[in-house]
Amino acid sequence: MSNRLPFSLAADGAACRSVGGLASALGGVGELFGLVWIGWSGAAPSHRTDAVDAAERQAVANAAQTLGCDCRSVPMNQGEADGFYRGLANASLWPLLHDDLAHFRYRPDWWDAYAAVNERFAEAVAGAASPGERVWIHDYHLMLLPGLLRRRRPDLRIGFFLHTPFPSADAFRRHPRREELLAGVLGAGLIGFQTRRHLEHFEEAAQRIGGHACGAGGIRHRRGRTRTGVFPIGIDASRFERGLADPATAAYAERLAAARGGRRLVLSVERLDPTKGIPQKLDAIEAFLELHPGQKEEVEFLLIAVPSREDAPAYRRLREEVEGRVGRINGKHGAPDRVPVRLICRGVGFHELCALYRSADACLVTPLADGMNLVAKEYLACQPEGGGGVLVLSEFAGAADELRGALRVNPHDTLAVAGAIAEALTRPEDARRAALAPMREHVRTHHAGGWATRFLAALDAAAACSRPQPRP
Ligand code: G6P
Repeated sequence: MSNRLPFSLAADGAACRSVGGLASALGGVGELFGLVWIGWSGAAPSHRTDAVDAAERQAVANAAQTLGCDCRSVPMNQGEADGFYRGLANASLWPLLHDDLAHFRYRPDWWDAYAAVNERFAEAVAGAASPGERVWIHDYHLMLLPGLLRRRRPDLRIGFFLHTPFPSADAFRRHPRREELLAGVLGAGLIGFQTRRHLEHFEEAAQRIGGHACGAGGIRHRRGRTRTGVFPIGIDASRFERGLADPATAAYAERLAAARGGRRLVLSVERLDPTKGIPQKLDAIEAFLELHPGQKEEVEFLLIAVPSREDAPAYRRLREEVEGRVGRINGKHGAPDRVPVRLICRGVGFHELCALYRSADACLVTPLADGMNLVAKEYLACQPEGGGGVLVLSEFAGAADELRGALRVNPHDTLAVAGAIAEALTRPEDARRAALAPMREHVRTHHAGGWATRFLAALDAAAACSRPQPRP
């Protein structure tokens, strides 16, 4: 269960693939495990009628069939989507979990909508799940759901996985409904995090805010014990291998190379989101161009910034800021026959993406905070054996814990990021190869399927431990 299904319906009922780490990692897993995926279709009509609901169900069934997955939608109207999704989930929890207090907002009516929509998700699964079934709940939109479901169906094996970071207890304390949020998540038998740091932060919050005792892989509370664990998410690496082998990818890579005319490529790919640190990255690119003026002829920066949550004012402002900054950098450092920074504010097709990853001499993944960041892993999966580019990676992405061979940066340190770009472009081939080989192997062997298998096995083990033991 997650807020986002693997696709979203537009107002005319057309479906488009969802973007973001959750959808991309879970995309392949559904097929593998025969999951039923329950979530929101993205449709938010002002009024719901039986006819509107029936049309939505049909559109969801069609889209799910095209993607080869089994999806059920939980309906929402516009008011609910405003309060639950745009309000509490994205203007309150998302910034707070990413330690971005400047964007953190709270309104009691958002909370009411959040609680009501979580109840609706609970009803949807409580009525459909067979006895003892496993229910895997994903992400910050559904933090109350484990508790609500536990109350209705104590027989279920409930797991919760947080795709985002979890901040320090001091930051989390800012949320006026912190106790309810914690109690909700603790309704799960197992809670998974991307990194040890996020898990430790959560346990600190459970201790200091909830007053619970933590230790030996779990948290004790009134209902019993919730297990916790670190389960770093992976990608569907074989999908990228197949994508790279496709002639469409090679053809696109050739076109790209011809268009670049020998200039080197520094790539970044992300959702247009305040947590991704795009203005800070532009500062570093500008510093690099100023410190290395000779490189203006040699290098091209390509930023693929996929629009996200477009009706949120903070996201609209960010887009204007990024477009303005890129225009100013190009105005200052460009020439009639080239621009140093190209910005594309739309998603690109899968084969184009594979070709871009494969062609890029360096990839800049510099979020201010990130649960994992799968772009870093996708870039590595697309590097050729015995060669390839350099990954410049923020130390605040969960991926930095695993990908030790990356050039690690603090995205707030403009000159250090500019220096890392210069270093990436001058690293000798044998040093690049030596850093890449173990990371590429890690990404291939620690894939999304293995992540799901590990989580579900730990969920079964947690359920077995919490079952009453027969007396000797
Ligand atoms: C992140 C979140 C996901 C979310 C995605 C896209 O990856 O962890 O839960 O689905 O962003 O955001 P959206 O608001 O479009 O679902």
